[in-house]
Amino acid sequence: MHLDTDRSDAFPADFLWGCASASYQVEGSTDADGRGESIWDRFCRTPGKVFGGATGDVACDSYKKMDEDISLLRGLGAGAYRFSIAWPRIFPQGSGGINEKGFDYYRRLADSLLEAGITPWATLYHWDLPQDLEDAGGWPVRDTAFRFAEYAEQCFRALGDRIAGWMTLNEPWCSSILGYMAGEHAPGRRDPQAAYRAAHHLLLAHGLATERYRGLGMKAPIGIVINPSTPRPATRRPEDIEAAERASDQRTALWLDPLNGRGYPERHLSALGVTVPVLPGDMERIAAPLDFLGINYYNEECVEADPSAAEGFARVPTWQEKTEMGWDVVPDGLYRVLRKIAERWAPKALYVTENGAAFPDLPGSVPDSIPDSVPDPVGKVHDPRRIAYLAAHLKACERAISEGIPLKGYFAWSLMDNFEWAHGYSKRFGLTYVDFSDGKRTPKDSYYYYRDAVAGAGL
Ligand code: FCB
Repeated sequence: MHLDTDRSDAFPADFLWGCASASYQVEGSTDADGRGESIWDRFCRTPGKVFGGATGDVACDSYKKMDEDISLLRGLGAGAYRFSIAWPRIFPQGSGGINEKGFDYYRRLADSLLEAGITPWATLYHWDLPQDLEDAGGWPVRDTAFRFAEYAEQCFRALGDRIAGWMTLNEPWCSSILGYMAGEHAPGRRDPQAAYRAAHHLLLAHGLATERYRGLGMKAPIGIVINPSTPRPATRRPEDIEAAERASDQRTALWLDPLNGRGYPERHLSALGVTVPVLPGDMERIAAPLDFLGINYYNEECVEADPSAAEGFARVPTWQEKTEMGWDVVPDGLYRVLRKIAERWAPKALYVTENGAAFPDLPGSVPDSIPDSVPDPVGKVHDPRRIAYLAAHLKACERAISEGIPLKGYFAWSLMDNFEWAHGYSKRFGLTYVDFSDGKRTPKDSYYYYRDAVAGAGL
């Protein structure tokens, strides 16, 4: 019998090891079984928005290949799978009539996971807003928050007996700022004031959904997932330290302050000259107690004071290795962000709900360190840089745990290569290689590495 004390690392026996994905990035079958259009379907069809004109129409074909995905998870020994529910599968028009076939799919997914001994963790909103709701104004409009609460409640009712953990929103910073201010994500608008209205309504949606969940008396933990950024100061000069604080406002305090009953970070709003449309009662709702906080971490930036910049800071060059996204590999940054959040906002529990790296993997590729070797004849995918990335970030988690930070689980992003939003299929984050011409899955070396880590065979 395997004893958990056999682990050659410091992760506790009940630590949750999982993988994460998101509906639009993996499912495909965007027309199947009555699914409605989402803002990502529309965005992908807008020329110039997504690399190579890619869409999620087929993606990893996970809607049809559920069994293959689950056997990959089983092979990993994963304890949990974090997937997202596509709102337009449940409410094709965003609101109004429920499409039961949508629920059938997620019931089957959750049941098959449970049969395989894997707990289902569901995100309610990983960016696929029904297009009809965007046509009615989208997240900048208050009503969208109430439509979300309605959708969330139906999900709780239909799937609540099967889901082990709920996440209301994934990275509301991306939905609001990238979607409505930078225009880099769907729906592709460029209006700062609209983005901050969206931010508030996303938080309100989260609060309303949480309230309904508690009202139903459900017991599985519920939380929210954010992608905090707490850049390090370039130097120890007080102005750079202050610049780093400001830099983290939008990605971190903008969410965690209101979620913890501290209101919005005024200095940030006034620097940008934007307002948030708060009505009486909103802030109490937003601050409803949570069971956990999910953190998506990929990188850490470095900033210095720059009085000429609107918000008073500027990013500076760094020395670290970059991933294919151009993101710095900074494992200590994961430790720092966990510590900072634990100290400043003291969540009951923390999960790393996403962490991973994109590298240009190829089947048959060889490790960089063996330049003259021949491609692997059986089509293995050697990805030593991803293994190093995972190992170093897991060590950062281990350190956080050893210092008493309540980190309860880790979800690798991602089980397999998938549709990477505006980058289309050009960035591969998977532990499993996907051939997008036929959907064939090939575990990469990092898949076997993660399997060992999960099993306790060492980082
Ligand atoms: C996060 C997203 C996730 C994935 C990773 C690489 O911001 O939540 O869907 O695209 O980045």
